[in-house]
Amino acid sequence: MTSTDQSIPVITIDGPSGAGKGSVAQSLARELGYHLLDSGAIYRAAAVHALECEADIEDQNAVLATFESFNPRFEAGNPDDGVQVWLNDQNITGKLRNEDTASAASKIASLPAVRQALLASQRDFQRPPGLIADGRDMGTVVFPDAKLKIFLTASAQERAQRRSKQLKEQGITTTMQRLTQEIQERDTRDSTRSHSPLVAADDAITIDCSELSIEQVVKLILSELK
Ligand code: C5P
Repeated sequence: MTSTDQSIPVITIDGPSGAGKGSVAQSLARELGYHLLDSGAIYRAAAVHALECEADIEDQNAVLATFESFNPRFEAGNPDDGVQVWLNDQNITGKLRNEDTASAASKIASLPAVRQALLASQRDFQRPPGLIADGRDMGTVVFPDAKLKIFLTASAQERAQRRSKQLKEQGITTTMQRLTQEIQERDTRDSTRSHSPLVAADDAITIDCSELSIEQVVKLILSELK
């Protein structure tokens, strides 16, 4: 485990998909004026790229080979659209959030050499005045020395409901049964992989937000920070 620069504070927010990490992380970054790392977007962008290169996404060497031409750019868009992600001159932001990309991201994320290859680009986000890092292994592997580690969780049913609402807003309809099943499959794959599984760091504070609003969670974290 590599030590990271302790003079630049990092707050890590790990947890399963759909627990609200993204909204909480964005809100905290805004509140504190910190940078934001959405590490899932890096895995998703890598998955989009591997699929476009027609690599077998379960073959570690094939995925690694695609990294030679993988240069994602994350640009702050206007406040309504959020961060825009580019691969060369293609804006792939719209592709990042679909379920095929999510599933491919979770598959390539189970390959140890892929995780290793993406470590440096994630640590590169640690810049003054500080960083909010959102992911699965931020507190355990990427930023083990983080100042504050949060593990945010919610029931699978609640997470499926939130996801369904988000998809509806994007005009995508799917059944709750299918969503819950996909979330559970992804949880299982993320928490049982041998390399960097989804687990709370020993020194993380766990928050179950099934019954809490984003604002309540942000308040809780800010009070922990004090
Ligand atoms: O957080 P998000 O749903 O965007 O992440 C997509 C996938 O990327 C997750 O299902 C997970 O498998 C993987 N991931 C990871 N480690 C991270 C962030 C995401 O394995 N730090």
